[in-house]
Amino acid sequence: MIEVRNLGKTFGNVHAVQQISFTVAEGENLILLGTSGCGKTTTLKMINRLLDPDEGTVLLNGTDTATIPPARLRRGMGYVLQHTGLFPHYTVAENIAVVPRLQHWKKEDVRARAAALMQKLGLTWQEHAHMYPHQLSGGQQQRVGLARALAADPPVLLMDEPFGALDPITRNRIRQEFSELEEFRKKTIIMVTHDVQEAFALATRVCLMDKGRIVQMGTPEELQQRPANEFVRAFLKL
Ligand SMILES: Nc1ncnc2c1ncn2[C@@H]1O[C@H](COP(=O)(O)OP(=O)(O)OP(=O)(O)O)[C@@H](O)[C@H]1O
Ligand SMILES: [Mg+2]
Repeated sequence: MIEVRNLGKTFGNVHAVQQISFTVAEGENLILLGTSGCGKTTTLKMINRLLDPDEGTVLLNGTDTATIPPARLRRGMGYVLQHTGLFPHYTVAENIAVVPRLQHWKKEDVRARAAALMQKLGLTWQEHAHMYPHQLSGGQQQRVGLARALAADPPVLLMDEPFGALDPITRNRIRQEFSELEEFRKKTIIMVTHDVQEAFALATRVCLMDKGRIVQMGTPEELQQRPANEFVRAFLKL
């Protein structure tokens, strides 16, 4: 379980995140939804300590994450970066293997895991394993980013616009495939998107943000049936 309490982060005079609080239960998919610049990425980065908050705390299963060394924390939290963030000088196979290698898995286990994940995500070992990120299409790169985050089977997955920068048809297909994976269904997931349809398709609950704050949080049905204000109504095009 992840508990975020009164998180705040300021960059210069920009209040990127203010008083953000939410709880994500085991197995839940919380979607952070909102306009560009509303603080989604900043919130996500404070959960795995890529950024330290100015205010507030994050608890993982009751433990304050400020007391957990970042490297250890991140081993239990797969992270899919906005714009994939693959290592350009690593092949596909090497990118996927990063965390298992840090955990000193046996070479053949790493390879078997990478090959299995690639297959699940519609890539093949023979064709893609030895390619470099720049040789892949945007959609293929995003699949490799997903495979990398899933490689060591972390219980928590943080995903920042994992299907962004794709045309709507490819986006829908990859999203559909991903949501059917066993990995997706059993993990605790916090995912960022600015796409309402995507949020509603994948969320257990949606957290709608604006200007660094939470405007409304609830199930897709609750937001649709009882929008808290005009902003929610306009954002959801109700
Ligand atoms: N390292 C930084 N230095 C200065 N300002 C920053 C930094 N990171 C984020 N910001 C600012 O904080 C605000 C929130 O940024 P954030 O990246 O969290 O937005 P976002 O909701 O993820 O937007 P998008 O949908 O465009 O990715 C923005 O005004 C941004 O300019
Ligand atoms: Mg962002």
